[in-house]
Amino acid sequence: MNLDPAIRSYYDRGGEIDRLADGPGRLEFLRTQDVLRRVLPPAPAVVLDVGGGTGVHARWLVDDGYQMRLVDPVPLHVTRAAEIAGVEAVQGDARRLDEPDRRYQATLLLGPLYHLIEREERITALREAARVTAPGGIVVAATISRYAGLYDTLARGRYAEPEVRRLTDLDVSTGIHQPFDRDLFTTAYFHHPDEILTEFADAGMSTPTRYALEGGAWLFGDRHGWLEGGDRTEVLLDALRSVEQEPTLMGISAHLLTVAQMPAA
Ligand SMILES: C[S@@+](CC[C@H](N)C(=O)[O-])C[C@H]1O[C@@H](n2cnc3c(N)ncnc32)[C@H](O)[C@@H]1O
Repeated sequence: MNLDPAIRSYYDRGGEIDRLADGPGRLEFLRTQDVLRRVLPPAPAVVLDVGGGTGVHARWLVDDGYQMRLVDPVPLHVTRAAEIAGVEAVQGDARRLDEPDRRYQATLLLGPLYHLIEREERITALREAARVTAPGGIVVAATISRYAGLYDTLARGRYAEPEVRRLTDLDVSTGIHQPFDRDLFTTAYFHHPDEILTEFADAGMSTPTRYALEGGAWLFGDRHGWLEGGDRTEVLLDALRSVEQEPTLMGISAHLLTVAQMPAA
């Protein structure tokens, strides 16, 4: 498996097991769930979760009645996902899916695109997702915003450190995020929000819809009880839903989901 060693060693540390349990990760989880529940075909559709990690989304999708197959290059992730009842998990790569044409009613790429530095590789992954998706089905891809690193290092109080500042400025000017230390993610590509539209188009999927997942709320969502559940969390999710397709707010969101429907047969 041709996975960048820095990416592999980052994920071998097991951080994906509970990354989405609290803080900004909790908001990413809730908003991903919120959008997916509105855009997915009804259960029991067959869903392929490419770069599905430890199965954090596959778990609730099985509970919602979906038939889930998960592909991930990291053995630890595959082992953890395979322990979830109802999830088939195999090792694989988004760029070369060992899956039949038109098999899935939805294909999720919630991770691979932001770990593929070369545009051609991202297009290849999107083409593969389109290939395995049935007519009328959907492809959903997550990207990280070009500006997420800048706001993240500012929010963590680290942007003034000279090397952090140098690498963060490179995120903004090139989109290429180089690993610095354990706190600041691993090798990644941070998309300009408009770039994903042309990548979908170049992979043969026209008129996709973008959803800003966290909006600006990932910078403060863990304050004031917004993520503690109950009515208050519902109010936050309602607020974010109301601006999720506003083009001028795309870049402030840490993550975007882009959704395209395959033409009917
Ligand atoms: C931040 S995790 C996201 C996991 C999960 N999908 C989620 O939304 O929380 C990114 C995932 O992408 C996977 N990944 C990285 N490069 C990949 C590739 N070339 N093909 C498929 N998956 C890849 C990683 O192993 C990891 O599980």
